[in-house]
Amino acid sequence: MSLNSIPVIAIDGPSASGKGTIAQLVAKTLGFHYLDSGALYRLVALKALQTNVNPKDENKLVEIALNLDVSFEEEEIFLENNRVTEDIRTEECGIMASQLASYPRVREALITRQRAFRQSPGLVADGRDMGSVIFPDAILKVFLTASSEVRAERRYKQLIEKGINANIRDLQKDIQKRDERDSNRSVAPLRQNTDARLLDTTSLSILQAQNSVLEWYREYCANVRV
Ligand code: DC
Repeated sequence: MSLNSIPVIAIDGPSASGKGTIAQLVAKTLGFHYLDSGALYRLVALKALQTNVNPKDENKLVEIALNLDVSFEEEEIFLENNRVTEDIRTEECGIMASQLASYPRVREALITRQRAFRQSPGLVADGRDMGSVIFPDAILKVFLTASSEVRAERRYKQLIEKGINANIRDLQKDIQKRDERDSNRSVAPLRQNTDARLLDTTSLSILQAQNSVLEWYREYCANVRV
């Protein structure tokens, strides 16, 4: 199978929209591989935080991105053989990731690593630019979103369940700030591209959202076979 005949489902969308959950479930159902591209930006952020790199030092950040020693094993993420699955999920890491993601050279440094996830029998990739930049030939492109209120509520519940204290208003403010930064950067901004299908999950359950993506994928398969 040549590389480009390996199907990719690209799921892009804003922070805390639930795209990671949906993408993982779709990948599991189809037996596809899964790429959480946000985790790569978060890993660069974590390494930069651990080594006290100035968030404005683009050259250092590019160096980190190029040399990142990471491995993804099932649901766990390792940085230099240390398990960092939860460490990269902090708000501090998310904010730093959003900041460094605005550097074009940092983004470029992560391209090959992301494309390497495209392996048989297929890939579900989630992020901000999966359909527009990383996998422009994806067979299905979804822009998955929800209102910022609902996203803040979902993030709040997640944190409380993990025993982490949180304030829903602060979370909503952070989400809006991150949306603004991710949407207004000059390279690969967060937006619904014309060839992406909109999936607004504000009033959808996880199962309903997952089924919408699977239905679109089956539609595609049925059309290809005709
Ligand atoms: O999806 P996430 O919240 O884990 O991503 C963290 C940050 O990384 C997000 O604020 C923007 C950046 N990001 C990006 O610019 N492009 C991607 N494909 C994925 C994430």
